Amino acid sequence: MGVRGGKLPLFETKVKKGRKWYKLYVLSVLLAISLILVYRALHFPTNGEKGRWAWFGLSMAEIWFGFYWILTQSTRWNPVYRHTFKDRLLMRYKDNLPAVDVFVCTADPKKEPPIMVINTVLSVMAYEYPTKKLSVYLSDDGCSDITFYALLEASRFAEAWIPFCKKYKIEPRSPGAYFKEPSFGPDDGLLDWMDIKRLYEGMENRITSMANSGVVSDDMRKLHRGFSEWNGTATARDHNPIVQILIDGRDRAREDHVLPTLVYMAREKRPNQHHNFKAGAMNSMLRVSSEIRNGAIILNVDCDMYSNNSETIKDALCFFMDEEQGHEIAFIQLPQHYNNITKNDPYGNSFQALKEIDFHALDGHGGPMYIGSGCYHRRESLLGKKYDQTKTREFVERERDYKSTSLALEERAKNLITCNFEDNTQWGNEVGLKYGCPVEDAITGLSIQCNGWKSMYFNPQQGGFLGVAPVTLQHVLMQHKRWSEGEFQILLSKYSPISYGHKKITFGLQMCYATYCLRAVCSIPTLYYVIIPPIYFLHGISLFPDVSDSWFLPFAYAITVTSTYSLIESLEVGYTLKGLWNEQRIWLYKRLAAYPFALFDTALKQIGIAKSAFVITAKVASDEVLKRYEKEIIEFGSASVPFVIIATVAVLSPICLIMGLWMLLVVQGVGLMGSMLAQVIICGVVTLINLPVYEAILVRQDAGRIPTFVALISLTLSYVAYALPLD
Ligand SMILES: *[C@@H]1O[C@H](CO)[C@@H](O)[C@H](O)[C@H]1NC(C)=O
Ligand SMILES: *[C@@H]1O[C@H](CO)[C@@H](O)[C@H](O)[C@H]1NC(C)=O
Repeated sequence: MGVRGGKLPLFETKVKKGRKWYKLYVLSVLLAISLILVYRALHFPTNGEKGRWAWFGLSMAEIWFGFYWILTQSTRWNPVYRHTFKDRLLMRYKDNLPAVDVFVCTADPKKEPPIMVINTVLSVMAYEYPTKKLSVYLSDDGCSDITFYALLEASRFAEAWIPFCKKYKIEPRSPGAYFKEPSFGPDDGLLDWMDIKRLYEGMENRITSMANSGVVSDDMRKLHRGFSEWNGTATARDHNPIVQILIDGRDRAREDHVLPTLVYMAREKRPNQHHNFKAGAMNSMLRVSSEIRNGAIILNVDCDMYSNNSETIKDALCFFMDEEQGHEIAFIQLPQHYNNITKNDPYGNSFQALKEIDFHALDGHGGPMYIGSGCYHRRESLLGKKYDQTKTREFVERERDYKSTSLALEERAKNLITCNFEDNTQWGNEVGLKYGCPVEDAITGLSIQCNGWKSMYFNPQQGGFLGVAPVTLQHVLMQHKRWSEGEFQILLSKYSPISYGHKKITFGLQMCYATYCLRAVCSIPTLYYVIIPPIYFLHGISLFPDVSDSWFLPFAYAITVTSTYSLIESLEVGYTLKGLWNEQRIWLYKRLAAYPFALFDTALKQIGIAKSAFVITAKVASDEVLKRYEKEIIEFGSASVPFVIIATVAVLSPICLIMGLWMLLVVQGVGLMGSMLAQVIICGVVTLINLPVYEAILVRQDAGRIPTFVALISLTLSYVAYALPLD
């Protein structure tokens, strides 16, 4: 990249090499897919032959798989990798860095313990960035005085914590995560370290005991005028707007070690008023922060996503402030990591391929999606402004209002988060985050891109944000159901990337969005493929070409080559072999037991019934559950429809395999084996991948096993499938 006006760029972009082989691979697989479809068309069973419908279904499934496979190549086509030069940024802009507002959302003090929330808050307060330019806002949709109390404690602890972090350059800057590491702190600061550790543990004890008791004691209430907000009958669903500035960064008396501004807020709630969940909270924060500090750059994180890298603000600014390309960038998305992934990751929580490949490819097409957390935004673009090429952009700081007192600021801010504020405005539509879709972050990101902006993906070596991954299969499936459902609904909404994005974003990016939006649809052909061929095998009907037939080749080629490709790719991005095998299982379970419900619920919604067959449980993780999680034992545990589907498929395939083989060997004759090989392989693979299910039914005695009741239903269903007359 060249020099512009004598200035070196603030970031560079690398394109992946060795693409010739990849292109050859794609072309050859495309050829195989076409041949498979030709085979299906040419060999359609004639009238009177068995398996006409099954054949038709398989052809449909294969058409879908082929089409979807082509779509997914958009997430492999042209990955790019970004690297930043923070030293150049500092040299050039040391005194002219923009103000940054950090938004943290929390919604429920029971599910999101206040101690976890303030650890996230402290980690973002301690960013390696001029404190007077940093503000942190906590939006509490639970309107909990315990969360407020915890934040008050955090504001005091910050006075010791932030100087400590900066003096010894420690990482990570969530005190909870930092002190969990069995290290002994910095060599030269052992005494400081012990002091701070003591302070932290004192605070942690006070907060957890307060949270356990459920009330804030009267002594504590006297500590801060803010508690008076809870004097009336404030409940989570019915309360006045609250804005409390706990640390006012304008405080000149503390100029020497100024702390970042820290604000607690809870928007007004009334029982009969819709509040639009997290998008509503984000929009409230956008308005409150505009009154208080109005930072040009906004970072938003979930309350369980602490910052694991104190440098990422500067990284993000390297993009936004780059003289040549910066002006068109709306947001910088960082990947989300988890701090409790076990070695072989039985639930596929690490999303390693998504983080290391997909998003780099999206970046190559003009911009990753906004995934709702761990993202730096340009305020302007989030507010719905269109990108205007002719305008030069500088981060001019608005003159700060030093005259108003904190109290006056709070009062003005409260007026911006009343229930009625958004009535007859464009908030939730043209302005701010969009309302009315379960994955509001994705459509918000898409509409920003359609407004002409670019986004970029930044994946630093030292992960930027660390959260907590789900530890039970039920919870994992629920999460995927919610995502795939939301994404599917985008496709049906007016924000469909196909129509809305037409000519506004690149075709490649449209394909990427379509890949995610159509995930749910993959459930039907997958279900078909793991159920129908085994049953037909049991009845001795072949649905695939004979091994000796040359039509067998395209099938064999497509399967082995795509599997080998993804094997190599996965090992490259850090999967273990066992982890990769686990990933295949989760891939299957998502399609069997999460996506179908996404489709089903969307269909119900379309005809106006909003009721789900999916059992929703709270995210409770007892010690027992955690112990099994650490041993990588899959947690089934409850008798719900998704598990019935999984168990039925798992029970069906070995039955078909054994009885089918017996038929073949004893009744029909081994000679037919060649024509059945493909079906034998399908049964065999599905059986192997489900080994943990048989263990959970037959061997395990713990609470995470599959209940006998579920196993019996599955057996019955399998029998029904067997006994049904075939066409
Ligand atoms: C994983 O997350 C759970 C919260 O669901 C937490 O309690 C547990 O300690 C974590 N496990 C590990 C190994 O970090
Ligand atoms: C989090 O930060 C630590 C350094 O404090 C680093 O060793 C670790 O790899 C980071 N975690 C991730 C997931 O990147």
